[in-house]
Amino acid sequence: MNEIEVARALDGRVTIRVGDLTRQAVDAVVNAANSSLMGGGGVDGAIHRAGGPEILAACRAIRASRYPEGLPTGEAVITTAGLMPARYVIHTVGPIYGRHGGAEARLLASCYEKSLALAVEHGLATIAFPAISTGAYGYPFADAAQVVSRTLQRVLSADEAIGEVRLVFTGEPQAVCFIDAADLARD
Ligand code: APR
Repeated sequence: MNEIEVARALDGRVTIRVGDLTRQAVDAVVNAANSSLMGGGGVDGAIHRAGGPEILAACRAIRASRYPEGLPTGEAVITTAGLMPARYVIHTVGPIYGRHGGAEARLLASCYEKSLALAVEHGLATIAFPAISTGAYGYPFADAAQVVSRTLQRVLSADEAIGEVRLVFTGEPQAVCFIDAADLARD
């Protein structure tokens, strides 16, 4: 898949791209995981396939030590990125749309906030996100775009530590839909 940058926002600190998340040469890519952390389809499957068994081994260790019941929705953990160009994977569990009693927007925002906080905590400056919850978890794309853009504006204006956030979409229609729906002040 050829990578194209579609737009920039927040003084170039946010870039909106069409590409493959697993090929991003950034400090951390964010995985749209499920609570088991044992892999799945979509982005989760792509990351485990591209990164190799080291990632699953690290997830198993996290489950055994800190999250025996599974990673709660809206939380995030960090592992190696294995064979991928990125250095780390930040795994977060997005809300399943309609299954959290109206708390979906808050939980989706938490995925981005907690992932960014982990990146800052680890001294990471560049991070790439997929459109969390907009696939198997059914979050309406335009609604998700508004949550994401507001969260990024809030977090990035409060903290200069993150140099670049990439929002990586699999196709131009999704990227354009995001741009149209988001409240991001574009450069
Ligand atoms: N690069 C970038 N974006 C991708 C990629 C990729 N390689 N693969 C998929 N996407 C996009 C999808 O098109 C969608 O817009 O990521 C978005 C999130 O889709 P999902 O991967 O289905 O994630 P989500 O909706 O959060 O559902 C999570 O699905 O894969 C399982 O184990 C996972 O149970 C969890 C659930």
